[in-house]
Amino acid sequence: MGDTQDIIDWATDYDIFDPRYVNDPFRIWDTLRQSCPIAHTSRWGGSWLPTTYEDVTNIARDIETFPSGGGIAVIPPTTNDPNAGPPQLLPYGVPPISADPPLHTWTRRLILPWMSPQKSASYEPMTRELCDRLIDGFIESGRADLAADYAQQIPVRVIAHILGVPTDMSDTFTGWVRDVLEFAYDAERRQRGTMGVIQFFIDALAERRENPGDDLISELLHTRIDGEPIEDSIIIGMCALMLIAGVDTTWSAIGSSIWHLASHPADRRRLVAEPDLMPTAIEEFLRAYSPVTMARRLLEDVEYKGCPMKAGERVLMNFPGANRDPEVFDRPDEVILDRAINRHVAFGAGIHRCAGSNLARMELRVSIETWLARLPEFELLDPAAVTWAGGQVRGPRSAVVTF
Ligand code: HEM
Repeated sequence: MGDTQDIIDWATDYDIFDPRYVNDPFRIWDTLRQSCPIAHTSRWGGSWLPTTYEDVTNIARDIETFPSGGGIAVIPPTTNDPNAGPPQLLPYGVPPISADPPLHTWTRRLILPWMSPQKSASYEPMTRELCDRLIDGFIESGRADLAADYAQQIPVRVIAHILGVPTDMSDTFTGWVRDVLEFAYDAERRQRGTMGVIQFFIDALAERRENPGDDLISELLHTRIDGEPIEDSIIIGMCALMLIAGVDTTWSAIGSSIWHLASHPADRRRLVAEPDLMPTAIEEFLRAYSPVTMARRLLEDVEYKGCPMKAGERVLMNFPGANRDPEVFDRPDEVILDRAINRHVAFGAGIHRCAGSNLARMELRVSIETWLARLPEFELLDPAAVTWAGGQVRGPRSAVVTF
């Protein structure tokens, strides 16, 4: 992690891994929006941080000026060994998220059907059964960690099911995903997580060639593009993306939502009493606690609204900050369960808009519904003891509740 104690000015020296930013980025964005709406830092290779809805969505939609092919992680790849790891093994990164058209177009088209509203609904019974089983495991004890014992356990198993890989490897997958995203500032852990995921899918492809099944990997192995099979490195990248994009993000969103209900009893009681509010409540949790910040690494110098952005620097796609912009959202820092107009960008904007949003929404709804049906009364054991992860994905990592 960066040297965090010496920050003097968030406008010129921010660090999104700083605990102050991780724990409460909202006040920092408010201040920046008024004084310097596009902040800059030299940390982590240099980046820019837009804080308004207009700037974040403008930049997300301008794929010519702000392409994804240069890199989408919020900090540079491992710095201790520039020759190691993904670039050689995954020359195209993890498409479609790391790709620009035309590679983006056809790789996205191949995965979308696996997360259509109908397909997502077909995973609902297994998700509901999983949520019930998790609650069975702790309900008698009168307490649980809503983040670690519940939220963290759900998306990884749903994704494993879609990919057709063993759900009993969930803890290993979760460890890799955390190494890649949450501990990205630690070169060794990031490398270990990346290699774990890649090696796993190299083996999974070999196995699925022998024993094809009714799953995404098998389908990708049989797909032909212009009469040619898809390169293994692209299939591995796509599968790695599904695992990485589908785990930490959704678990963080589930965790933040239930944490909100634990710390705001009036909202909890209202949602229990008025379950018809669930659709707007879920959109509101997604807006207020948007977990995902992406990046674009510039391939050439660009000037945007007077900001001299240099080739090699990153622009952080601050979707969470955009969702708190008072120009667009009335009372942005309040969670309003029945907020009527809510054009949030928690799932991004433009051609890279989240391909898994139907699935994520289903998982959010089922996990919150199941929790509230079984545990309508609960509260945080110690609000000050809750810990948050941040950086690329923000969400609670430990939040013990009693019931
Ligand atoms: C609450 C949960 C989630 C949130 C907040 C979220 C957020 C996002 C965001 C902001 C992007 C845009 C990235 C960019 O502009 O660079 C994105 C892309 C993507 N997400 Fe999600 N995501 C979530 C869940 C999922 C799930 C469950 C999956 C499926 C496994 C998934 C798969 C993807 C994929 C494949 C892309 C790349 C799409 C493209 O580049 O065309 N996400 N997500």
